[in-house]
Amino acid sequence: MRYGYFDDESREYVVTRPDTPLPWINYLGCEEYFGIISNTAGGYSFYRDARLRRLTRYRYNNAPLDSSGRYLYLRDDGPVDQESGPLFWSPSWQPTRIPLEEYECRHGMGYTLIRSKLAGVEASTLYFVPLEENLEIWELTLTNHRDETASLSVYAAVEFNLWDAMDDATNFQRNYSIGEVEVVDGIIYHKTEYRERRTHFAYLACSEPLTGFDTQREAFLGPYRGWDSPLAVETGEMSASIAHGWQPIGAQQIKVQLRAGEQKKVIFILGYHENPADEKFYPLDSQTINKRSVLPVIKKYIQPGEVENAFQSLRLYWDELLSKFQVTTPDTHTNRMVNIWNVYQVMITFNLSRSASYFESGIGRGMGFRDSNQDLLGFVHLVPERARERIIELAATQLPSGGAYHQYQPLTKRGNNDIGGNFNDDPLWLVLAVAAYLKETGDWGILDEAVPYDNQPRTEEPLYEHLQRSIQYTLDRLGPHDLPLIGRADWNDCLNLNCFSDSPGQSFQTTNNKEGMVAESVFIGGLFVLAAKEMLAIADHLGNAEQAEACLKVVQEMEAAIWSAGWDGEWFRRAYDDFGRVLGSRENDEGQIFIEPQGVCVMAGLGIEDGRALQALDSTAEHLATPHGIVLQQPAFSKYYLHLGEISSYPPGYKENAGVFCHTNPWIMIAETMIGRGDKAYDYYLRINPSAREEISDIHKCEPYVYAQMIAGKDAPDYGEAKNSWLTGAAAWNYVAITQWILGIRPTYEGLQIAPAIPSSWDSFEAVRMYRGVRYEIKVERHGSGSNVRLEVDGNAVSGDIIPLPKKGTKSMDVFIILE
Ligand code: BGC
Ligand code: NOJ
Repeated sequence: MRYGYFDDESREYVVTRPDTPLPWINYLGCEEYFGIISNTAGGYSFYRDARLRRLTRYRYNNAPLDSSGRYLYLRDDGPVDQESGPLFWSPSWQPTRIPLEEYECRHGMGYTLIRSKLAGVEASTLYFVPLEENLEIWELTLTNHRDETASLSVYAAVEFNLWDAMDDATNFQRNYSIGEVEVVDGIIYHKTEYRERRTHFAYLACSEPLTGFDTQREAFLGPYRGWDSPLAVETGEMSASIAHGWQPIGAQQIKVQLRAGEQKKVIFILGYHENPADEKFYPLDSQTINKRSVLPVIKKYIQPGEVENAFQSLRLYWDELLSKFQVTTPDTHTNRMVNIWNVYQVMITFNLSRSASYFESGIGRGMGFRDSNQDLLGFVHLVPERARERIIELAATQLPSGGAYHQYQPLTKRGNNDIGGNFNDDPLWLVLAVAAYLKETGDWGILDEAVPYDNQPRTEEPLYEHLQRSIQYTLDRLGPHDLPLIGRADWNDCLNLNCFSDSPGQSFQTTNNKEGMVAESVFIGGLFVLAAKEMLAIADHLGNAEQAEACLKVVQEMEAAIWSAGWDGEWFRRAYDDFGRVLGSRENDEGQIFIEPQGVCVMAGLGIEDGRALQALDSTAEHLATPHGIVLQQPAFSKYYLHLGEISSYPPGYKENAGVFCHTNPWIMIAETMIGRGDKAYDYYLRINPSAREEISDIHKCEPYVYAQMIAGKDAPDYGEAKNSWLTGAAAWNYVAITQWILGIRPTYEGLQIAPAIPSSWDSFEAVRMYRGVRYEIKVERHGSGSNVRLEVDGNAVSGDIIPLPKKGTKSMDVFIILE
């Protein structure tokens, strides 16, 4: 069953009923000001950091679902029906949930448009953040379809958050006394803590003169009422309340008379603004916000023409970004994910890492070191300059040991000490991110960039040295089988082999009562080989033979360790626990085979020559593949194992305990292409492709336009149900798998490689790929059943499958490929 449809032409998903199985959300904002918005206008906004600079309040895990947001109300001010009382409703359905005669929500690239109709009044609201501005626009277009004049009140309402979302949700003894606002010329300013150390404030403005306002929540809602039936809306009377403490809100009322057929635009602006510390107040000795620099911004965007321009610029921005890679394949799901939604999700994960979604509260994890490095793999081609900045930012949180803080706060860019480091895979992801950046851009200068450790001044060293320390970090931490020690966890955050957590509420990752000199990870072994091979290629490129030789040596040693202790006969093992016992082996009763090492070891090239890769992938197909995707491991853990940690805390079929982790599936797809099985790779690709799952939306439940982290595995009662959509490494990795490995269009150190491993049923496909400033127009035709490539560039045959870098000044190239 579907709840909407894809409008590919407009690059929108159109939700056609408001009661989706879960709120189906979208993101507003591209650089500093962000918001999440659901299909019923739920959600919240923040400036840069969802925890530390939260603008509006959102009650997670609430009932009814998703009931705080950017709400508008419409009230019919005409004669009141004595029985049913005054008619008022939410044009976005929530929070009043009055049934609408028409409803449609269009989620697009950086904007959401919600259109509905009730009682002859059509309301269409466009929500977006103009590029380079710290504000969001809600542009409401009202149309009167009645035969007579409609007298309406329009209300906009937001609940301000007292900035730090964690403190806001916990510190009521203080917070109920600190809320402050100003209302001047119809603009509501939220200025809690502005009197002391803050130099920023939020505001709600409207293009029309107000007929009323409220800034104290209880005054607007009325005692013991909710957002679904505000007293002020019901009665039509606002009380001009000024919040002193309690819950500051911004609620505005305007009145609109619409003749039959008349249309009118009303613009609301919710924004964030900073003043220089010494110009906070005006007059200087007052406590009044200095509005000199904010008013011009507000004045600009309350004009429909400016809004129109800003919206067009946003559309162009996305046209430009998306045009960097477009494909035409025989399959719609592939086309729309590659051309639109997957790449959009990649941008969102780049911006937000794991901070704010319907499942990430914004107060939790901030930016992940591992996560953000992997997000870059899908992002580098989009805005390489931003990828470069991010790489430097990440590397600056690295510790002198080569280890890394597991997470950092986007606002401060500092590593989070409460979590710390020792997730022993973390540093290796930095190598892969930098390698991807180099292959995309050829900007070798980045390796010389001076980057500090732990953000400490005077510790700067070239980025290249950071990478070497990443490699050395693993080598300094080898266990009894010469495999890497796992530390707190590796990619699988829930495989906590040194944790032994026995008290409720302890963190599985940071509880550590073992020295951790025994438990090893085959996964990190594979990842190490992958990363060290990149270091080898980099050393080769730099002409550093000694370095290259050293890399080759450690690669070979690690491969030897994997073959001697990490191979189980039919698949790669997963780990050794703190007692030196194997995990991910047929010797185990539960957790016999895991997906991660099959993916990463084959991606690292292990066993490709001698058939063991094939064997590992066949075992994966046999034991782990399901119609809803490949589960993480089997058999699922049926109970909690002290020595395994969080993985066994989940009921079977969920999350790391045998759920389908959409992040790891693409590793298998890539591995399949590496052994030449394009059909198998593509089959796996489609199993979790969100668009291909659209028709089972009632089972899948999450948005059909983005990947979710997890789909419940076959051991779960609700097998096939997705959770944790949007902020997941699944975005970047699925994008890499389909574009670089299945379609086979792959940046390398030497140039763009084209080595498709497409399904045998495809006769051809086309692509346009911007690469190092050149437009590659690619056409692939299948003439035989294999994957051998015959390459022609601008009409000339070229040997191999890498297109040599063109002469400077070349604008575009015609690439023709015959697969035989
Ligand atoms: C989740 C993991 C996640 C980790 C982050 C765990 O509870 O299951 O997926 O990576 O938390 O801290
Ligand atoms: C989600 C985390 O963000 C990611 O870093 C981790 O690798 C996976 N969960 C698996 O545990």
